[in-house]
Amino acid sequence: MKNLIQKYNIPGPRYTSYPTVPFWDKEGIDLEDWKQSTIKSFNESNDSEGISVYIHLPFCESLCTFCACHKRITKRHSVEEPYLQTVLKEWNLYCDMLGEKPKIREIHLGGGTPTFFSSENFKGLIDGIFKRADKFRNFELSFEGHPNHTSEEQLQTLYNLGSRRNSFGIQDYDPIVQKAIHRVQSFDQVKKVNDLSRKIGYESISHDLIFGLPFQTEKSIRDTIKKTIKLKPDRIAYYSYAHVPWIKGVGQRGFDENDLPKENEKRYLYELGKQLFFDAGYVEIGMDHFALPTDSLHKAMENKKLHRNFMGYTAGKTQLMIGLGMSSISDSWYAFAQNEKTVEAYTEKVNQGKIPIFRGHLLTDTDLIIRKHILNLMCNLETKWNNHLSLATKNEITDRLSEIITDGLIEISNDKIKVKEEARMFVRNVCMAFDLRLIENKPEVRIFSMTI
Ligand SMILES: C[S@@+](CC[C@H](N)C(=O)[O-])C[C@H]1O[C@@H](n2cnc3c(N)ncnc32)[C@H](O)[C@@H]1O
Ligand code: SF4
Repeated sequence: MKNLIQKYNIPGPRYTSYPTVPFWDKEGIDLEDWKQSTIKSFNESNDSEGISVYIHLPFCESLCTFCACHKRITKRHSVEEPYLQTVLKEWNLYCDMLGEKPKIREIHLGGGTPTFFSSENFKGLIDGIFKRADKFRNFELSFEGHPNHTSEEQLQTLYNLGSRRNSFGIQDYDPIVQKAIHRVQSFDQVKKVNDLSRKIGYESISHDLIFGLPFQTEKSIRDTIKKTIKLKPDRIAYYSYAHVPWIKGVGQRGFDENDLPKENEKRYLYELGKQLFFDAGYVEIGMDHFALPTDSLHKAMENKKLHRNFMGYTAGKTQLMIGLGMSSISDSWYAFAQNEKTVEAYTEKVNQGKIPIFRGHLLTDTDLIIRKHILNLMCNLETKWNNHLSLATKNEITDRLSEIITDGLIEISNDKIKVKEEARMFVRNVCMAFDLRLIENKPEVRIFSMTI
């Protein structure tokens, strides 16, 4: 297996969308096309499954130097209200366009640091959203919290607004690592917000950890995971550190490449973490995620109801997801669109009464077919060949999978293709064989070239 990991460990997409963002149409999407695709999706699905709303809350009080998210660093809390007013204006633009009242199945507050915002402002935001919408049955509200900036009052307010699920950014407990990534937070502080969440009644708590951070060692990872398991979060995200210092404004600094674990050391940290989670009773979900068997994500996986979108894995699939706030990505199933990436450009467009997208992609019929296959693989580890794929395309995909087949990572029949459980970590490599956009744009790409 070790040799296979070495062989297939290549840079590859994470498939939170298909086509992946770098291969969206260079021409972008016409605003009218985006609106029409949203209305079509809404009419098809609002009554039967409801819609999802992602709200990006970008502010953080201090910069963590590993962070690759879209954020704005400030200590000035006066930014909260004007920002939320803009988000609600954007929501109203969508509601005016949709006509009928949306039924919301799920709202996710992502960041940045959502818990930068005051309890009062959370209330104003969620109440503002529901002025124009109803709750779909089993409505869920979830949010990302920074352990150093989450109070009992905020947890209680969000619970009262309907939240039963939250996630906290832990990253790593080692003091040397924490100093290097400018993210100092104690185990006691994490325990405090974790215990408070339990006391208030949250049913699913998730902890984000990262492997491959500067100065991490086997010992430090063992210690971080031991502490994590002690608090028994329902879900654990175990992300591979994405080193992307070339992205302007990301601010990955304070350490350099030499401080990062080498490729084989990083792989070992992944395998070690996975084993420790298994030993503690966690089950691997899709990719990067682990959950206790009692958690809804695990149940969704068992019932083949797992879905993957820009928020990662979710148990509550909806065809339409509207992204509000700067840099948010929306998904109408037939198209993707991303909002302006700075607070200023985003605010300006909304104030002009425009849906503030700046790029997107209208899916072709072929994109829609490939998307379904990639989603099936990422969520269920298998997909059925069906009539929608031409024989020629099917043969091309099979050809691209030949080494993967020879290496015994998948089972392939006339009916379907299935990634073996022990080869779960290679699922992205298998998806890459279906990724026609990647292959059209980079025909030289090898299916086994850094995914772990
Ligand atoms: C937007 S943050 C939200 C949580 C909150 N801001 C916090 O830091 O506690 C979501 C998660 O993305 C992950 N993340 C951010 N930058 C990353 C990177 N460069 N590589 C891998 N994961 C990253 C972190 O685990 C982080 O907790
Ligand atoms: S990791 Fe979280 S708190 Fe840190 S800069 Fe990124 S979004 Fe902000």
